[in-house]
Amino acid sequence: MRLNPFTGAYLTDPASVWRRILDDPAGVHYAEDLGLWLISRHEYVRRGLADAATFTNALTLAPVYEICPEAMGVVMQIDAPPTTAAADPPVHPRTRRALRATFANTPDRVEAEYGEIVRRRVDQLVSRLVARQGDQVDLVANFATELPLLVVLDILGVPDADIARIRRWADGQIALIWGQPDPAEQVRLAQGLLEFWRYCQELVRQRVDSGHRADDFISRALTYRDDDDAVLTVPEVASLAFNLLVAGHETTAGLLAHALDQALSTPQRWSAMAADPRIVPAFVAETLRFAPAIDGWLRVTRRDVTLGEVTIPAGARCLLLIGAANRDPAVFTHPDRFDPHRSDVGDHLSFGHGPHFCIGAGLARLEATIALTRLAAAIPGLRLTPEQHRSYKPNVAFRAHHTLSAIIDIMAPVSVPSAREAAAAEARIAGQ
Ligand code: HEM
Repeated sequence: MRLNPFTGAYLTDPASVWRRILDDPAGVHYAEDLGLWLISRHEYVRRGLADAATFTNALTLAPVYEICPEAMGVVMQIDAPPTTAAADPPVHPRTRRALRATFANTPDRVEAEYGEIVRRRVDQLVSRLVARQGDQVDLVANFATELPLLVVLDILGVPDADIARIRRWADGQIALIWGQPDPAEQVRLAQGLLEFWRYCQELVRQRVDSGHRADDFISRALTYRDDDDAVLTVPEVASLAFNLLVAGHETTAGLLAHALDQALSTPQRWSAMAADPRIVPAFVAETLRFAPAIDGWLRVTRRDVTLGEVTIPAGARCLLLIGAANRDPAVFTHPDRFDPHRSDVGDHLSFGHGPHFCIGAGLARLEATIALTRLAAAIPGLRLTPEQHRSYKPNVAFRAHHTLSAIIDIMAPVSVPSAREAAAAEARIAGQ
């Protein structure tokens, strides 16, 4: 089985590739070009995500490809201790406990602790767009990637002035680990990653040295640790911040872009949201299933494991194809149909499953719901430009739009019935 995530159909129509892989009876394949085992069925992906005794997270955040020695030399200087997504027991449960205590992750806590931040940042960006009435804008650069980054900076207590370099470092990390940069680029990205790590250490050091605790994540984590390294070390606090600054924005940016794409590609959907915001949460849930922002995720087998007819050897790197699992007909009826009314949507695996289930799922849902609701209310006539060429950044894990170009039109579109609807209405009137 071949899969090239960096070119061809996977960059323009990944669902066609997932369909081809799902249609193959084995459900598990070795992709020689990638050096990865591809796991596609819902049942197997779910197991790969949840079964920590068989699948380790140790290399989940390590580059997919062997990087050049010079870049590796730089990466080796990043002494961030593994926490949460990069950790296995016993470190994982301990650092996850710390995160659950200090980062809001249930719907009620997310609303209470982050609702005001999200609404303020959404309103700020929406007003900026409204001011550009009549213009053509890229919704990815001007909204989808901007909002989650601003929100996560507020939550962590990081100044807005640092937004540009954090975005550059985080984009670089995603390209270095899950992309295919050439050696010169690898060195540049690795240097950026090292600077990023030092920046996170500095954020923590400032609070440790001053003893000042504000109401931000880093301060909370330091209070939680209470000078006890057995609870959480200071480098682990920096490592959590390092991970959250990337996990907290690149993913939700993808979700927002996919949701806007789905909503605006069929103008009736956008008008329906503007008219009735109650439909937005179900729309967000179906977007998560249909177009996950992370559609492939890495694990390594600790021992031989047999899935169906195929045995994967111990020590093998596996790519769990979340995007394919979310389209598995064994679980979802008409899986290739975007249907916000579906009853099986809760079975999607877009936030993972089991012990590593996404800690930011509640925040991502809240951000997407408020963002779509307020944008549709303020700009009901928003529409994609007709010459849209949809394509995604070359990456094994993150499915991110390059651009999404739209026209800002704050007027609600005039509702013009189709010829068939007009004829049906006339017939009804004639029959009365
Ligand atoms: C649409 C948005 C998001 C998607 C699709 C997403 C996806 C995921 C997935 C698939 C995992 C499982 C990783 C694994 O099993 O190894 C995960 C874990 C995680 N996510 Fe998210 N995420 C999103 C938003 C966020 C946000 C907003 C934050 C925080 C601000 C966040 C923080 C984390 C953390 C810390 C973990 C690791 C949890 C652990 O290992 O115990 N994510 N996410």
